Amino acid sequence: MMADTDFILLIRPIMASLSARILMLYAGQTGATRRDRLCSALRQTIGEGSLPQGSRLPSSRLLAAELKLSRVTAEAAYSQLESEGYLQRQTGKGTFVAIALRPSPTGNECASLPFIPSARAAAVVASGACQDPPFPYAFAAGSPELRAFPHDLWRRLTARQQKLHGSALMRYGDPQGWLPLRQALSLYLAQARGVRCTPDRIIVLTSSQQALQMLSLLLLDSGEEVWMENPGYPGARHAFLSAGARITGVAVDEQGAIPREGAPRLIYLTPSHHYPGGSALSLERRLAWLALAEKQQSWIIEDDYDSEFWYDAQPMPAMQGLAPQRTLYLGTFSKSLFPSLRLAWMVVPEPLVEPLIRLRSVMDGHSAQLPQAVTAAFIEQGHYAAHLRLMRQLYHSRRDLLLERLTSQLIDRLQVLPCRGGLQMTVLLREGNEAELTVRAARQQLLLPRLSPCWLDDKPEQQGWLLGFSALERAEIIHGVNKLTALFQDR
Ligand SMILES: Cc1ncc(COP(=O)(O)O)c(C=O)c1O
Repeated sequence: MMADTDFILLIRPIMASLSARILMLYAGQTGATRRDRLCSALRQTIGEGSLPQGSRLPSSRLLAAELKLSRVTAEAAYSQLESEGYLQRQTGKGTFVAIALRPSPTGNECASLPFIPSARAAAVVASGACQDPPFPYAFAAGSPELRAFPHDLWRRLTARQQKLHGSALMRYGDPQGWLPLRQALSLYLAQARGVRCTPDRIIVLTSSQQALQMLSLLLLDSGEEVWMENPGYPGARHAFLSAGARITGVAVDEQGAIPREGAPRLIYLTPSHHYPGGSALSLERRLAWLALAEKQQSWIIEDDYDSEFWYDAQPMPAMQGLAPQRTLYLGTFSKSLFPSLRLAWMVVPEPLVEPLIRLRSVMDGHSAQLPQAVTAAFIEQGHYAAHLRLMRQLYHSRRDLLLERLTSQLIDRLQVLPCRGGLQMTVLLREGNEAELTVRAARQQLLLPRLSPCWLDDKPEQQGWLLGFSALERAEIIHGVNKLTALFQDR
């Protein structure tokens, strides 16, 4: 057997560079103890190929001396790595590397590794992501006014619910959703939106986006056709694309989506407030769509995303109330409470309930329980209705101000589409290039959410923007419109 001193003489040059490498890696570690840091440094040295399989390591005494550590630390690190399978210690022979690892790529090499998405994902990756607006920022679309949120009340309700339910809220929950929330929702939806449902037809989700994703997975085979409004909601398009579906656009006019024969299995509509145009689907058209769906045994997704906010006249009750057996009704708290709450719901016919619950349990289990309990209490105690009333008034005045400013300053540049409700106003460019103006606006800290991504093909028939107003105070709206006016004058 070779003595440690002979071994040192033999491998001193190698040891010097190896120790230097281990030392360098050791210095860069952030583990809690010296032992953890040494373990990480050794794992990394083996992982990057500096110590190939079968190489002999210095004794723990020698390593400790080289690294200026205690022998106990070096010994403990060797034992730990032996138990993990990296090292093998042979009595009387020494410590050896037990495994062959392919060197893992470094940060720079990682950046150049090819990434090939699945065929299904390719279309989604290419089409861009769902983009959430920064807040508050003129004219980010779809943001509620969070500065006017009843934060103290929410805090109190959170503490109360935690106290009331204790650890029950910390366990895994029902994939269908917290029962009191489903009960509160079913009453609210019946009263406010004419939705026909019982708590057992409601599934609580993180977002409408999740609902769209789940329905796509459940109801669309790869290559299958789906219809949606054109222009329409990009989030729905992304969900359908991710299921590998073929999307066909449905034309929209001032009475909403225009019905036509030959409907596929799934149709996506925003009946109370077309996204992005703002028109409401007329009763006549609702009945026509439902008759077509009945004939073809199709499902209609009714995305009722912002129907809580109406300013001139109350919107028509939900289409779901006319035909609960054909309609998959979606709603979200992202606009009516706050987006990071991550709570939404769908109301579905009985045959879809169980499959969707199973799907949810496979995807991510369920939504967090405490926020569900707080939201349930917020609705039950009447705070939700009161909050909506206040926000409706606030947004109404902001809508009026934006409309008045755009009309007086920019009417020769922009056509303003009727905005009876919602959180944003759609404007069409009379002339000019949407993309170019948007880039120039961004340089002036003006965010103009573009209309083009709402069109299904690359040739948008209309250019323009969705100007969010709900999250902007009076001065912010005035400042934003002045900046927009200056943008046109600078050309
Ligand atoms: C038509 C439509 N549906 C759904 C949503 C978003 O809801 P969620 O945050 O619950 O996915 C939006 C957001 O802008 C929307 O415009």
